[in-house]
Amino acid sequence: MTELIHYEVKGNIGAIKIDNPPVNALSVNKGVIQGILDSIKEGEHDPSVSGFLLLGAGKNFSGGADISEFGKPKDPDLATLRDLLAYMDTVTKPIIAAISGPTMGGGLELALTCHYRIASADAVLALPEVKLGILPGAGGTQRLPRIIGPQRALPLMVNGDFIGAKNAFDLGIVEHLVEGDLYDEALRWSRRIIKEGKPIKRASQLEVSMSESVDEFIGKAREDIASRWRGYPAPMAIVECVKAALTLPFSDGLKVEREEFEKLVVSNESKSLRHLFFSERQANKVSGVAKNESQLAVNAVAVVGSGTMGTGITMSFANAGIPVVIIDTDDHNLTRGLETIKRNYDATVSKGKLSSEIRDKRIGLIRGSTKLEDVAEADLIIEAVFEEMEIKKSVFSSLDSIAKRDAILATNTSTLDINEIAAVTSRPERVIGLHFFSPANVMQLLEVVRGEKTSPSVIATAMAIGKRIKKVPVCVGVCDGFVGNRMIHRYIREAEYLIEEGALPHEVDKAIESFGFAMGPFRMGDLAGLDIGWAIRKRKSKTRHPDQRYVSIPDEICERGWFGQKTGQGYYKYENGSRTPLVNEEVNAIVIAHSANKGIQRREIQSQEIVERLMFALVNEGANILSEGIAQRASDIDVIYAFGYGFPRYRGGPMFYANTIGLEKVAEGIRDFAAGSLGSHWVVSPHLLKLIEDHKIFGD
Ligand code: 3HC
Ligand code: NAI
Repeated sequence: MTELIHYEVKGNIGAIKIDNPPVNALSVNKGVIQGILDSIKEGEHDPSVSGFLLLGAGKNFSGGADISEFGKPKDPDLATLRDLLAYMDTVTKPIIAAISGPTMGGGLELALTCHYRIASADAVLALPEVKLGILPGAGGTQRLPRIIGPQRALPLMVNGDFIGAKNAFDLGIVEHLVEGDLYDEALRWSRRIIKEGKPIKRASQLEVSMSESVDEFIGKAREDIASRWRGYPAPMAIVECVKAALTLPFSDGLKVEREEFEKLVVSNESKSLRHLFFSERQANKVSGVAKNESQLAVNAVAVVGSGTMGTGITMSFANAGIPVVIIDTDDHNLTRGLETIKRNYDATVSKGKLSSEIRDKRIGLIRGSTKLEDVAEADLIIEAVFEEMEIKKSVFSSLDSIAKRDAILATNTSTLDINEIAAVTSRPERVIGLHFFSPANVMQLLEVVRGEKTSPSVIATAMAIGKRIKKVPVCVGVCDGFVGNRMIHRYIREAEYLIEEGALPHEVDKAIESFGFAMGPFRMGDLAGLDIGWAIRKRKSKTRHPDQRYVSIPDEICERGWFGQKTGQGYYKYENGSRTPLVNEEVNAIVIAHSANKGIQRREIQSQEIVERLMFALVNEGANILSEGIAQRASDIDVIYAFGYGFPRYRGGPMFYANTIGLEKVAEGIRDFAAGSLGSHWVVSPHLLKLIEDHKIFGD
């Protein structure tokens, strides 16, 4: 038997422990599932064994099927999860699951097939397969509705929600909760079940029933999913499985589940989502930073600048229970910043998403100050003042003299050279970029920008603190715009060229939104505020090359005071404070007049061209960024785009998407654009060409 399963007879109980670190994944090829099956078979034939206890070694029961095995050949001599669960449904001695820590997907399906379930307080249960573009494929869609009813089971599976032990108990998934040692109590409880001769409760034999009509229930679910999950096939497939659970015998329901699962697991959507699952974890590994690199303890934080970003950053730390002092030299701006924070928390409370006690606790962790000296106690200081090099340098040189010797000095700059900022301090090795995205308390992405001299320990601390405040940190190098914004500038520039050549803003947005982005580039601009880009363009106007093609449409719009949603119009009109964008005919007239003034003959542009030009702009710049080593790996770029820019997750990120459609096609497309009369800015990235020549793809 595999060493990943420990089988031990404790009195009259056959205890089976899954020991496959780090999350006890139910691997086929490593023999984990076969090991469980063999143990049960051994106990079935052992007269001294009256029942089984199934549990996980380490922190959890099981994180589910081994995701890395999807799409790979399985050893035909070893049992699959379905084989094991089918056998368990025939076993005549009670099997009790002792659930602890994350118990997910196939791990929970294994527990649901056991006859009784006991859980420790730290247990977190979920059927999160939908997040990987698949569905619970080991009977979960058939057993869970039988255990807790379809109305409760369906949303859990469609959303992949995590639920705690108490919630699982209230729902009836778990029959007994344990505060103390799970193993001891589970053994005691199992013996009691056996002693009292409790029946073997098989979920597969439970009646599934509901008060409302099945057709109505399924009809409503289909409607809801069609509107909420555009582009994601798994949620609808889950509905079909639940329908099967409601209308077919258990074994036929399993067949439907299996068919749906097999279709999903080979889909591009699932491959993309699995790619992002592993990419997010891969992003934690930073070259030159050892896994066990020493880290600085961060117990107190200071944020300098209480504007748009400073307030959001402050909230992110307070939300994680870390005390923050927020400092602004301008009294008025500090008051405004503190009020914004309070207003944001109040809004969350009034939406019912936060209790007033937690709000008060979080606000209690935040202190405002107008004195830079108040950074003295902080372990981490994040500067978020105006985007001006001279101001940043002056702030950093003051911070250097006030801050603790080992404190980390971070900047939230989005465009400036971090090495230049670090150079004004006596501790460049402790200077780093922490590039948050707006709104900083909401957006998950955090670009951790390593300077030339930033020490590995500072990078390790920054990555860890990023996770602690529930962000997705990705380490990048220094260049204008770092990874995300440098690429998005190419994308926005291309969108502007498109409107100059013949498309209208809403047509560009429509094409991109149909591709799967939550918002097209012009709606995004209106939301972020067009004045931000305008200010940057004005600042950079002196260094702009006169031969470079420049689209002045955004400037013409800003000159009218139209900055987007906040002023009631930008590329779109927003009536009576609404966020619904309405086509802005005045902007369309500006766009058309602009093309005429420039002597550009407008033409009809198909949505395919719009999508390709914007996507290839991202991919091509991503390839350049990789060749310069600004991003460590292609998958990091995908994570940045999925978590920071609304790139459709079911397409896996721009680089994975390029792999999916073929790098040759991308290069050919770029060559075609370059050959057009207005295409001189297109040059295929040498890195992309090299990959094609070497028959490689991004990530190889
Ligand atoms: N299969 C393979 N590897 C897995 C895995 C799984 N199910 N779950 C986690 N891992 C790996 C991660 O890739 C990571 O590897 P690395 O160290 O080499 O980067 C390592 O385990 C640790 O993972 P995390 O960093 O995510 O650990 P956390 O402690 O933060 O979180 C967790 C633990 C909540 C279990 C989280 O890992 C998770 O959500 N895992 C996925 C759960 C899931 O989706 N399960 C369903 C799988 S599909 C399935 O079961 C199909 C079935 O219906 C037939
Ligand atoms: P903001 O203009 O909203 O706020 C800046 C604040 O800094 C003001 O309250 C100002 O009073 C204060 N300030 C100026 N000089 C100071 C000093 N010497 N000491 C203390 N406080 C001082 O600016 P915003 O938008 O919050 O940007 C801050 C930084 O974050 C910039 O570097 C910007 O590039 C970056 N950033 C901005 C994003 C955005 O979407 N706004 C996104 C990501 C990064």
